[in-house]
Amino acid sequence: MLLLTGATGMVGTPLLRRLVAARVPVRCLVRDPKRLGPERVRVQIALGDLTDPPSFRNALRGVKTVVHLAGAIRDQSVGSIEELNGIATWRMVQAAERAGVEHFVYLSALGAGSHNRTRYLRAKALAEQAVTDSGLRHTVVAPSLVYAPGDYWATLIGRLALAPVVPLPGGSHSRSQPIWSEDVADCLMAIIRAPADPDVASARYELAGPDTLSSAEVAHTILRAAGRERAVVSVPTFIASRALRVAEALAKSRTPVTWDEAELLQVAMTSRHGTAQAEALGVVPQRMAAVLGTA
Ligand SMILES: NC(=O)c1ccc[n+]([C@@H]2O[C@H](COP(=O)([O-])OP(=O)(O)OC[C@H]3O[C@@H](n4cnc5c(N)ncnc54)[C@H](OP(=O)(O)O)[C@@H]3O)[C@@H](O)[C@H]2O)c1
Repeated sequence: MLLLTGATGMVGTPLLRRLVAARVPVRCLVRDPKRLGPERVRVQIALGDLTDPPSFRNALRGVKTVVHLAGAIRDQSVGSIEELNGIATWRMVQAAERAGVEHFVYLSALGAGSHNRTRYLRAKALAEQAVTDSGLRHTVVAPSLVYAPGDYWATLIGRLALAPVVPLPGGSHSRSQPIWSEDVADCLMAIIRAPADPDVASARYELAGPDTLSSAEVAHTILRAAGRERAVVSVPTFIASRALRVAEALAKSRTPVTWDEAELLQVAMTSRHGTAQAEALGVVPQRMAAVLGTA
């Protein structure tokens, strides 16, 4: 049995489709099974939450492989970014050790580091540490910016494009190597299929797409795909952070974008390996423009 967390997310959805097609027995730890869509009748469901460790114990019964994708880039009413990414992963690892799990696959992020300026990438670093310090056979996967047509950022930038210019916080020069969620799912399948391979177990894979793009270039690619080419203007950090924090205070959880999310556009998410580590898993990542149909 394989336990998948985050099965309803951008990476989890294509991964679950592949696991079901390959007839891998899967249990999904979910908050709301309806969000699994049609796949919910083909998997076991464990109701749970990243902030509810007892739900991990039930979910892990009889599980040999854990693929832990669930995480969050904004605070939730039940827990902070630090709890949802760092502490939850540490608790999941402990529960997996107690349950006798044989292989723990963790989706971290490029740029994760204890001194990163963003709360999310600091929490991811703690989570990675919990995984690598454990006695479990583990594989850490660190992707750059992951995208899919119509995803959260595409929707947000599409909405902003209703205005004559699209504002982006900070210098918009930070670079990422966007990788399609379907390519990430293929890499994860390759890892799940080869757990005993010593090159795969206890490895850290950095997954990057073939283009190195600034945040502004990512925005232009999304705008072109939406047929709404607009100028992208850089909003100084001190203005963007204050404006977004005021918006958060007023709109609470309904705010379309938080400062913690916007700040992620200002940090580098690149790998010196480029696409090599995805290719080592047998996956050739596609160009963003090709996936979005603008190449
Ligand atoms: N997207 C990127 O650019 C990117 C880049 C690098 C690394 N990553 C990492 O890759 C992983 C997957 O990313 P993604 O883009 O697929 O994320 P996503 O689309 O935002 O999905 C997040 C998943 O986590 C679940 N989740 C959130 N809060 C939860 C909670 N309190 N309890 C239980 N489940 C919860 C969500 O379930 P619900 O359906 O209930 O909301 C959803 O399935 C994450 O760990 C993320 O940090 C993402």
